[in-house]
Amino acid sequence: MFEKIEELEESIQNCTKCKLCKNRKNIVFGVGNINTKIMFIGEGPGADEDDQGIPFVGKAGQLMNKAFDIVGINREEIYIANIVKCRPPNNRDPEQDEITACIDYLRNQVMIIKPEIIVLLGRIALQNILGSEYKITASRGKWIEKKDIFYMPTWHPAALLRDETKKVDFIEDLKQVVEKLENIKR
Ligand code: URA
Ligand code: SF4
Repeated sequence: MFEKIEELEESIQNCTKCKLCKNRKNIVFGVGNINTKIMFIGEGPGADEDDQGIPFVGKAGQLMNKAFDIVGINREEIYIANIVKCRPPNNRDPEQDEITACIDYLRNQVMIIKPEIIVLLGRIALQNILGSEYKITASRGKWIEKKDIFYMPTWHPAALLRDETKKVDFIEDLKQVVEKLENIKR
């Protein structure tokens, strides 16, 4: 475990702990403000993220940015990371061995950042952070408090591209996050 985010990032630069290292162009470590109270956790990089080395810069990310604008979240003020740091081929789900190999990096990020709120984007993030007994359909939009962290599970932004009706839920869930943050600040 590293105490400093730069040291952690540096330590994973040539990571070959799982088979996703073979086809990646860039490791997508995570971006944002490490002094934030809110962390967003996605699944894994897509093609655009792999090209640029930055999470959520593709279509799903752009949609998420629009939602941020609507609810008043400033992307520079939060921190965004993924369950796996390298792109799964053809955007398939990350496999269990890959998640097991990678997730300690994310745990180390959480340990350094110490967020009060974690937004879990989609099933993969939800089940790998809180447990496979949680179902995204039943859990989304409902706070789960564990070890002094408030978790808000919501749809993965890519799901909004496939199903417009989920956008309303997503915005509602983000509004709850903004409200909770205001309560915490008081
Ligand atoms: N989807 C994710 O889960 N993460 C990204 O960084 C981009 C798309
Ligand atoms: Fe290493 Fe994670 Fe990339 Fe696998 S996905 S090679 S564990 S950084």
